[in-house]
Amino acid sequence: MNKTKLLKLFLLGKDESKIYYQKNIIEDRMNFLNSISSEKVKFIFPVKAFPHKDILEKAASKLYGFDISNPNEYNLVKSFQSDLIWNSSPFPLVQFANNKIIHDLNSKFDLENMKEKFQNYAIRINTDHVNEDLSHHSRFGINSSDLQDCSYIHYHSGTEKNQVDTYLKMIDEIVALNLKDLKVLNLGGGFTHLEKEDILELIQKIEKQNFPFLILFEPGRWITNNSGVALGRVKNYTHNSGKDYIITTLSRDCHLRWLNKIKVSFHRSLAKEELLAKVKEVKITGPTCYEGDIITEVSMSEKIDIFYNDVIMISNVSGYSFAWNTSFNGIDKVKIELLN
Ligand SMILES: Cc1ncc(COP(=O)(O)O)c(C=O)c1O
Repeated sequence: MNKTKLLKLFLLGKDESKIYYQKNIIEDRMNFLNSISSEKVKFIFPVKAFPHKDILEKAASKLYGFDISNPNEYNLVKSFQSDLIWNSSPFPLVQFANNKIIHDLNSKFDLENMKEKFQNYAIRINTDHVNEDLSHHSRFGINSSDLQDCSYIHYHSGTEKNQVDTYLKMIDEIVALNLKDLKVLNLGGGFTHLEKEDILELIQKIEKQNFPFLILFEPGRWITNNSGVALGRVKNYTHNSGKDYIITTLSRDCHLRWLNKIKVSFHRSLAKEELLAKVKEVKITGPTCYEGDIITEVSMSEKIDIFYNDVIMISNVSGYSFAWNTSFNGIDKVKIELLN
């Protein structure tokens, strides 16, 4: 996205904070996934990764369906003609048990008490064992050794450290069980960092195998990552215990959760404003009263001037910021605009 154009738009709009999303970035990624889909491998869109009607409409036309995790998400997509809706709620949504949705069962309790209530259920498998990242433990799913024959199986490892091999490992584990009733194996999302070539390699390996079941993926961030740019204003500067802090209108907790590897740049506002500070290493913080509301820490090659109302630009925002966008105790939600 062109930074100068965005800065102009932001300054003209006079908002205190805003995220601009570029719809065509998301559409291009959906087009790619659509182009590599087949009878054996398909992609569904996790609603939480960007629950905006324009994005969901695109997903409905280009992908195979949706992953939802609560009734609100279901309501957002129920009017679309999608082939499949998978419900990954951590507890059974018994109110939807009789419709066509595939519902995750997450525990031994669910298997013993809930199975009979559902027309279509999936067994979710805990993924602690498929990833090398031993610091990550998931509360979702049953141990794979407790798996029973069923039509739908679901893995989702959210560590974002998954490699092509991680997904092949999940497949091998299921193939070894030789399940007679299996119709769909859903391998989840969590592969933001995989390049298109990696995904192609994975799909080609799957295609070669001729499995008697369909394989699904649910890429969220892979589709919506880096599609947005957040802009806010610098409002204050403090210096405490040897540290410089800049306080801005953008909040980590309200507007920028689940954002990794934050890239920040500073820009001058149009008006003539007061000089706040000269900084080199500085923590950029949000407007809430919460001590942990720290967006990032930056280290510049040399000292730069920071003026009151300077604009900060964060250029790698994902659709999850739209989903999380909250007001904490009256702090404004960030304004959102989708650009074509
Ligand atoms: C069940 C399920 N599938 C897919 C996703 C999307 O994950 P990602 O955005 O890491 O691809 C999530 C995200 O939390 C999820 O919970």
